[in-house]
Amino acid sequence: MEIVKTIGDMKALRRQMRGQVGFVPTMGYLHEGHLVLVRNSRKGNDHTVASIFVNPTQFGPKEDFTAYPRDPERDFAMLEREEVDAVFIPGAGEMYPPGFDTWVEAGKITERLEGAVRPGHFRGVATVCTKLFNIVEPDRAYFGQKDAQQVTVIIKVVRDLDMNLEIVVVPTVREADGLAMSSRNVYLNPMERKAAVILWKALSTADKLWAGGESNADRIRGEMMTTIEKEPLAVIDYVSVADTETLEELEVINRAALVSLAVKFGRTRLIDNIVLKK
Ligand code: PAF
Repeated sequence: MEIVKTIGDMKALRRQMRGQVGFVPTMGYLHEGHLVLVRNSRKGNDHTVASIFVNPTQFGPKEDFTAYPRDPERDFAMLEREEVDAVFIPGAGEMYPPGFDTWVEAGKITERLEGAVRPGHFRGVATVCTKLFNIVEPDRAYFGQKDAQQVTVIIKVVRDLDMNLEIVVVPTVREADGLAMSSRNVYLNPMERKAAVILWKALSTADKLWAGGESNADRIRGEMMTTIEKEPLAVIDYVSVADTETLEELEVINRAALVSLAVKFGRTRLIDNIVLKK
């Protein structure tokens, strides 16, 4: 497995790759969810490139950029075991040299849900993914459904800017009790970790109501909030039932709906979602 630190070296390595290239962009501190993306890429392509870059432009000034967990040696060992061809691990100065000032904005959908709470977050994500796609030139890039709005934004950017790659969305990988895998789960203390299962319970409540014929979005949001409020350590940021493409809140679920939530446990903010399909 090649470990590549500069854009020039990554482009040179990419030029040597024959056949289809799959790409898994990450911020490192890998878990099973990332490895499932890698395995999907390995299955569908001749080569797989992963990147590790804690992207400073997608963190707000009061967010956890400095505290974000990092362990590149452990990540390399995990990627090596998965037989990844190359890991691109640039420094911040390589990706954002002095004078860098060109940004990718994906419009209205970046202002809702996560975007409303984390202004500028999706501008950072869209910009870094555009740069990474230009550097790695993959045929396919793999993203987890866990970050549903990120997936919606990336698909829109790729479509709107006529980029030459396919975005493959991989189902969320969960712990045995239903908690979605996330690098940020390490921030939870044992009590918060136990409490965090309420996210999955709330999403399952929505799923059951929908399966039972409920299509009133307000009633579903209400039942989810009631479920979460039973957990004293949980502080709700938002509970949403929205159109999967525009991310506009729905009154009636008459098309595919993204049911998503963001909840804080102490200082840790977790997100999760499911899609209700017609
Ligand atoms: O999902 C992530 O880990 C990041 O947002 C991504 C896509 C690697 C961009 O920095």
